[in-house]
Amino acid sequence: MNHKLAIEKILEISSSLKSDTILKTCIEFLYDNFDKYSWIGIYLVKENNLILGPWKGKQATEHVKIPIGKGICGSAAKSGNTEIISDVSSDNRYLACFVSTKSEIVVPIKKDSKVIGEIDIDSNIPNAFNNKDAEFLEKIADIFAKFL
Ligand code: SME
Repeated sequence: MNHKLAIEKILEISSSLKSDTILKTCIEFLYDNFDKYSWIGIYLVKENNLILGPWKGKQATEHVKIPIGKGICGSAAKSGNTEIISDVSSDNRYLACFVSTKSEIVVPIKKDSKVIGEIDIDSNIPNAFNNKDAEFLEKIADIFAKFL
């Protein structure tokens, strides 16, 4: 699916559901419509940690609580910047979840420029994410921020 249509669908989901089911439905929608996403989840900032929220993938991750500053997820939460990792095996911050993962993108969700959570996506394809994906997911993160 193209990014523009996906944003329209996410906005449609956001305006038609109760707030407690919006994020879960959006995450499922993204997983189901982008083949290169092999796992997608939302982490929420709670004190000094990231706590796993809604997710979809073939397997659960053991990383349900990640300290801010640790891993790719913790780095993005600390800096507030999107992280695109084209080859996870060459990044020594990487916390492995699935042996099949080759690349990853982590996009902070911000409210009033404060990081309140993030979208984390793994791909089984090397170098799966570029700046267009970052731009798209940053728009999605802005929509999600309204429901957090
Ligand atoms: N790889 C992440 C941990 C989360 S799992 O990918 C779901 C990291 O390095 O922070």
